[in-house]
Order: sequence, then structure tokens, then C-alpha cells
Amino acid sequence: MRTGEGRPATAFLCESFTLYKEVFHFMAQEQTLIILKPDAVQRGLIGPILTRLEQRGLKLVGLKLMQINEDLARKHYAAHEGKPFFPGLVEYITSGPVVVGVIEGKDAVQVVRNTMGATNPASAAPGTIRGDFAVEIGRNLIHGSDSPESGAREVALFFKEEELVRYERSNERWIRE
Ligand code: RTP
Ligand code: MG
Repeated sequence: MRTGEGRPATAFLCESFTLYKEVFHFMAQEQTLIILKPDAVQRGLIGPILTRLEQRGLKLVGLKLMQINEDLARKHYAAHEGKPFFPGLVEYITSGPVVVGVIEGKDAVQVVRNTMGATNPASAAPGTIRGDFAVEIGRNLIHGSDSPESGAREVALFFKEEELVRYERSNERWIRE
């Protein structure tokens, strides 16, 4: 059997199956937003923090330097509106340039949160980013989405779809089963 263009039907079926697998793989990927907060940029910790995430085996699919304005800060931290620390939090996150990124992969949210350490660096475990580089809750260096749903919402707030890059790393099979 041949398709209209004279190609074997098996080739058509194989291509369709490959496309289906790619679409499924794309849809199944969890995304999390990271923000290297103004203190991380000012203290020259962009490199060390990204290094830790990369060394863990996490994959960046988006990355940029930007300044967060008040409107975006309020949207990003909407869940904290009304809490006593909210005004200080908005002031902090808008106080200087930040690096925002998207990490994609199975359990991305949980793995990033564990690598970051507890919200309050004073009680963050040694070996975590906050536990090794920070001491106070109001200067805790890094944000990571707290659930896959938050991840999807926050990634859409900070990145256009065309700013995200899909690629396979050559060492992928040594990191993921
Ligand atoms: P983030 O959203 O920044 O990744 O941090 P998180 O999930 O670990 O903590 P979250 O509860 O979402 O709080 C957001 C940020 O608000 C500041 N904060 N200050 N003074 C306080 O009691 C207080 N609580 C929270 C921190 O900068 C925290 O990262
Ligand atoms: Mg949070």
C-alpha cells in the first residue's frame, strides 16, 4: 500500500508515531520557574547557583536577565497579597535585575525545591543553595515554583512560548532512565 505521494504507508505510520511520541513527551514534561533574586545577581552568585542546578542534572529550557516591575511582582506573588511581609517582598524582588529561568523534566518542581533548601535560610540544610549561601528569609537568593500548577502559571507569566527552547542533551541517558 502506498500513500498519495507514492511513499510507503509504513513510512507514514512511523512518522506519525514519532510525532505522537514527541507531542506526548512535550505534554508530559513538568516545568518550574526559577528566579535568581536581586541579591543573587548583586552578590555574583548567578554562576554558582546555576552550576548547582546544572550539576544536579536539571535541564534549562529558558533563561534571561530582566528587571521585574511592581505589576509583575504582584502577579507572581499574588498568593501572598495581604500578608505582613508582602510589601517588603515586592520591594525586594523589584530592587534590581534578576535571572529568570525555566527548568523542565520529571519532578522538576520537587528537585529544584530540594536543591534550593528551606524558605528560611537560617534553617536550610547545608548543601542546599540557601543553606550554603544565605542567612535570612528576606534575602534567600532564589525562587522556585511550589507545584507543577504554579510552575505552569509562573512560566506563562515570565516567558513567551517562543522563548523556550526544546533540545536533547548528549548526556541525557546518563541522567534519566
Ligand atoms: P519563593 O516563593 O520565593 O520561592 O519562596 P518559598 O516558596 O520558599 O516561600 P514562600 O512562602 O512562597 O514566600 C515567598 C517569599 O517571601 C519571603 N518571605 N518572607 N518574613 C517572612 O516571614 C517571609 N515569609 C516569606 C521570602 O523571600 C520567600 O522566599
Ligand atoms: Mg513560594
